[in-house]
Amino acid sequence: MKNIILIGFMGAGKTTVGTLLAKEKGMKFVDTDERIVKEQGIRIPDLFARQGEGYFRDLETDLLKRMQEDTNCSVISVGGGMPVREENRTLLKTLGCVVYLTATKETILSRVQRDGSRPMLEGEDLEARVERLMKEREALYRKAAHLEVWTDKRSVYQVMQVVDQETRRFG
Ligand code: S3P
Repeated sequence: MKNIILIGFMGAGKTTVGTLLAKEKGMKFVDTDERIVKEQGIRIPDLFARQGEGYFRDLETDLLKRMQEDTNCSVISVGGGMPVREENRTLLKTLGCVVYLTATKETILSRVQRDGSRPMLEGEDLEARVERLMKEREALYRKAAHLEVWTDKRSVYQVMQVVDQETRRFG
């Protein structure tokens, strides 16, 4: 156990903050998207295109189950959709201290781009998509998390420091 898990919307900074936090604390860093890509040998947009979102979501749940056994003392960044499933929310909480990195829609829009790497953001009207998905997910992120940390107007280093302080206090 003793993992720190970062959840939140695409562009919240989970991977960037997680990498820095792991380095600072001398912990391992695990990114669930990266593990899935490595294990499946295929990029996420291609996986979505060929097998569909449902298949990817099943892979996420399967990975979370395996992580209960094989992941300790790590900072874990999970894909933005991971906490949507109730089963995953339970699995995340048993894995360690879950931190929800939040950001306003404006901040998220300034950070995410249509670079083809995020299938959930493909299609018309990026802003409307982000707004809808954020609304759908906000309560679920809150349910999944032990702690919440704002990232707006904070540097990556500052967010990392707040996450470190808050998770230490959490125990
Ligand atoms: C997704 C977020 C992505 C990735 C996949 C689906 C989502 O991860 O898991 O494209 O549904 O929010 P990031 O949050 O790291 O971009």
